[in-house]
Amino acid sequence: MSVRVGVLGATGAVGQRLIQLLDPHPEFEIAALTASEASAGKTYKEAAKWRVNSPIPADVAQIEVGATTPDDVPDDVDLIFSSLPSSVGAEVEPEFCEAGYVVSSNSSNGRMDPDVPLTIPEINADHVDLIEVQRDERGWDGALLKNPNCSTITMVPPLAALDKAFGLTDVNVSTLQAVSGAGYSGVTSMEIIDNAIPHIGGEEEKMETESRKLLGSFDGAEVDLHDMDVAASCNRIATLDGHLENVWADTAEDVTPADAVDAMAEVTGVDLPSSPEQLITVFEEPDRPQPRLDRNIENGMGVAVGGFKETTKGVQFNCLAHNTMRGAAGASVLNGELLQQRGYL
Ligand SMILES: NC(=O)c1ccc[n+]([C@@H]2O[C@H](COP(=O)([O-])OP(=O)(O)OC[C@H]3O[C@@H](n4cnc5c(N)ncnc54)[C@H](OP(=O)(O)O)[C@@H]3O)[C@@H](O)[C@H]2O)c1
Repeated sequence: MSVRVGVLGATGAVGQRLIQLLDPHPEFEIAALTASEASAGKTYKEAAKWRVNSPIPADVAQIEVGATTPDDVPDDVDLIFSSLPSSVGAEVEPEFCEAGYVVSSNSSNGRMDPDVPLTIPEINADHVDLIEVQRDERGWDGALLKNPNCSTITMVPPLAALDKAFGLTDVNVSTLQAVSGAGYSGVTSMEIIDNAIPHIGGEEEKMETESRKLLGSFDGAEVDLHDMDVAASCNRIATLDGHLENVWADTAEDVTPADAVDAMAEVTGVDLPSSPEQLITVFEEPDRPQPRLDRNIENGMGVAVGGFKETTKGVQFNCLAHNTMRGAAGASVLNGELLQQRGYL
């Protein structure tokens, strides 16, 4: 029997990707859509300015968009995907959890809360059981699970491979991030055409903290953050989709570029419908990966790496992932599949 799902913030950049992934999903069935008061009461087709590169699904187009409140979502919805602005998510996600809904969320609010699991199923699926602690502490029948920020999720799979094999001590990263990462109303064409913007509010801190939680260890009661130091510098550039990142990883044990490439094969997909067969693809060409050529690798759910070079304390490499797929909607759907597999629905 399929799982009935709802999408909060269904009309936005991530919300539309969620619809694109959920409509043909083998186990999930779209049962409720919400957005702001301005969209509530309209059909999805009227409310969403559809910008995704596949037709708007005919059955979804006719669904009436509700207001973003538990009262507008049927009780028999088992799983909620949230792609709300974080200020809105901070207010309404707890209301949904309190009302008994299990929420898989993209929004940044609460990601670093000690009782909120932050997961990439291929990397730290065990952290999902932090939900037991969360339910004890908050008295919720529902639950809140987060996926990380889109730039964090791009670098963490290759970092996890290096950490497992050689132990990470310090990570420095500089990003080249696509405009879709800012949402539909995020960056105007006058700001970004013929330009690069060397600041993305809050992004650096997210990369520096979320990566330590993802690579931290969970003992059944709390997540002990990884003790590596992470320093990030984030830049917006005029690509549409796909975040490219230059990473310098210092390791406790000696590592050559060839060792690092071998280690990448150790991080594999998991047995969930949206997990890619090959999570990390290594390019040998020094000028790959590139956003336009490589962002759709593994249907947008893979991470592409290349350009491995030796440094005095470890290795340097480049990595790339599709920010609204692997970095947002796809990550959230994968987390929803994990919640179902672990019996949390
Ligand atoms: N874009 C990415 O690559 C990416 C990656 C990772 C995480 N995220 C996170 O995902 C979330 C959504 O991002 P986005 O890029 O999809 O943003 P977006 O394009 O601006 O979409 C925002 C959505 O939230 C709805 N909304 C806005 N204000 C609301 C309110 N007061 N009450 C209820 N609904 C409201 C909007 O509905 P209306 O259409 O009615 O205004 C729309 O559906 C954000 O927290 C973002 O940080 C984004």
